Amino acid sequence: MTDQNSSLVQPTIDYAIQATPEQPKLAAAPKEAKKDYALITGASSGIGEAFAKVLAAKKKPLILIGKNEAKLKALAEELRAREGIDVRFLPIDLARSKELPLLPGKLQNMGIIVDVLINDAGFGKFGQESEIRYEDDLNMVNLNCRAVLALTKLFLPSMLARRKGAIINVASTAGFFPWPTMTTYAATKAFVISYSQGLAEELKGKGVKVLCTCPGPVATSFQERAGLKVDPNDYKRYSDPQTIVEKTLDALRSNKNLVIVGNSTGWTKWALKLLPRSLFIKLV
Ligand SMILES: NC(=O)c1ccc[n+]([C@@H]2O[C@H](COP(=O)([O-])OP(=O)(O)OC[C@H]3O[C@@H](n4cnc5c(N)ncnc54)[C@H](OP(=O)(O)O)[C@@H]3O)[C@@H](O)[C@H]2O)c1
Repeated sequence: MTDQNSSLVQPTIDYAIQATPEQPKLAAAPKEAKKDYALITGASSGIGEAFAKVLAAKKKPLILIGKNEAKLKALAEELRAREGIDVRFLPIDLARSKELPLLPGKLQNMGIIVDVLINDAGFGKFGQESEIRYEDDLNMVNLNCRAVLALTKLFLPSMLARRKGAIINVASTAGFFPWPTMTTYAATKAFVISYSQGLAEELKGKGVKVLCTCPGPVATSFQERAGLKVDPNDYKRYSDPQTIVEKTLDALRSNKNLVIVGNSTGWTKWALKLLPRSLFIKLV
């Protein structure tokens, strides 16, 4: 008999694809919305926030998703005021949300069409796998993999119907090889790379682009949240989020489906081509 109260038991209803009666509360700007929007997860910080700023400067209407409501609201107000575009935000925990499946219908009712989906939200946890809490790993898989899958399933059909759209998945150079002490994180990013490349191939000639961007180290709150101790001198050499975003958008324009971006990724590109996996893992 299964203990339904155990945290190890998975919910029998997958709320990522099955709706609950609760409606997502999508904070709306005062303007009428009729244009194509970019939906960005992880927009409250780091690379996602940089995506929001760079796309806003190009006058792209936005939907910002993250957990931190105050930061999303402040960013939405800043971008509306500065760029004169419609920016909406939705504070939601993508690792646990029951409201996600209602999002496309809710947006449709508001006249909003999502033609760019940026799956950026993600986190890692540093430590021995035997010591990292199962709940933390599970949340990581839910956010880094399951939310990417769910949002793709929810928004891809309308993109395909219009033969217009782009999906950008933020993976990591960590997804190319096992990373002891960031074991689950690296495995989640391997999923994102493989999933994106498979999808990109399936969607060729159908009007929807898929790009997987793989940054090396970037100066954001990622390291602190992961519990990674970074030498301040190393940190200075990390890429800034805006550069990552600009290079990613260049790659999208060039119709690439995979791009490795960042200051210290030269050795990664070289090692990926030349070193066997068994040797690579010893160097990480
Ligand atoms: N920084 C790096 O060195 C690096 C390198 C390669 C790849 N990446 C990838 O880049 C992506 C963005 O990371 P970052 O570096 O920009 O880190 P970050 O500054 O920590 O930003 C992470 C973003 O994800 C959001 N998020 C976290 N948990 C969430 C949840 N359960 N539901 C909804 N949103 C959630 C956060 O929202 P709140 O702040 O509201 O919680 C935040 O907006 C991640 O996928 C990461 O794996 C980062």
